[in-house]
Amino acid sequence: MSAIVVHAYGGPDVLSFEPLAVRQPGPGEVLVANRAVGVNYIDTYVRSGVYKVPQFPFVPGDEAAGEVEAVGEGVDEFVPGDRVTYTNHLGAYAERTVVPAKSVLKLPGAIGFETAAGSLLKGLTAEYLLHRTFRVEPGHTVLIHAAAGGVGLILTQWAKHLGATVIGTAGSPEKVALVRANGADHAIDYSREDFVARVREITEGRGVDVVYDGVGKATFPASLDALKPLGLFVSFGNASGVIEAFDILLLSRKGSLFVTRPTLGTFTSQRDVLLAQAENLFGVIESGKVRIAVNARYPLKDAAQAHRALESRTTTGATILLP
Ligand SMILES: NC(=O)c1ccc[n+]([C@@H]2O[C@H](COP(=O)([O-])OP(=O)(O)OC[C@H]3O[C@@H](n4cnc5c(N)ncnc54)[C@H](OP(=O)(O)O)[C@@H]3O)[C@@H](O)[C@H]2O)c1
Repeated sequence: MSAIVVHAYGGPDVLSFEPLAVRQPGPGEVLVANRAVGVNYIDTYVRSGVYKVPQFPFVPGDEAAGEVEAVGEGVDEFVPGDRVTYTNHLGAYAERTVVPAKSVLKLPGAIGFETAAGSLLKGLTAEYLLHRTFRVEPGHTVLIHAAAGGVGLILTQWAKHLGATVIGTAGSPEKVALVRANGADHAIDYSREDFVARVREITEGRGVDVVYDGVGKATFPASLDALKPLGLFVSFGNASGVIEAFDILLLSRKGSLFVTRPTLGTFTSQRDVLLAQAENLFGVIESGKVRIAVNARYPLKDAAQAHRALESRTTTGATILLP
């Protein structure tokens, strides 16, 4: 089979398409023939070295959907031919991937491989952000940064479905229009407008209950000024760079604020939590409450092009690779 292999940290050019031997699944493992592979911003951090890998060479990629080809000893939940999806640490940018069975989920019949690859990691993230980090309910006002992105479009629709007033930011007039079309009550072009001033205006000076921020450096510490007293700042990503160490007294001065920096793996490492999250996610997709926008597709061998597009902020919604 062939896969994308990385031999050293660097720019998109280090994503090299190469032949690779496929191994058989060991105890507790499943061999999946990937039909669609999800591209996530985290893949760029791993490629460039913002997040470190244990060893080189490695195959990047954290999620895919496909068919089970073989199962290892002790696996009784899956059989060859099952339609499945998984999110796992590394290995998905390949025609075939060996995955721990505890990371694999059966795919409901109504959800296709492309939708699954475009939504599992991003949608499970939206699920824990909206249900397990801060419980969004009617009456809440939420601010979602990069709302036209992969996670952003899911968060926007789902927060609206939960009854919140949704304010989304995005980096161009076209993206702002897309955020509105996906249900946001207010959309702000933060490349041209002062988003804090706009949020203060929209909320009549009160501020929002929670900020969901996957942008990082560029929107910090301004996002703290968009919060109401006792509000929660959720930093879940660093698309513009990692937030540097800051004075914790800032939180006191700006109204006894809360801050958290969660990651999906903490939630999905418990199989029962993963299953509950997936049920929630598949439920909102199947009911049409959350539509998954797979807006770009590339052959697996062109993963570098997909990374260039993501890092140059030209994408909206999800990008997938097709093995
Ligand atoms: N913690 C977790 O569990 C978890 C899980 C999944 C994803 N994430 C994070 O969630 C965020 C979104 O992930 P995604 O895969 O859905 O990506 P994405 O949102 O589709 O792409 C990133 C977006 O960030 C915005 N951005 C702002 N400044 C940027 C800059 N300097 N360079 C590049 N992009 C910039 C861009 O939107 P605009 O042009 O509209 O600004 C861009 O489209 C990422 O930070 C990712 O790491 C975290």
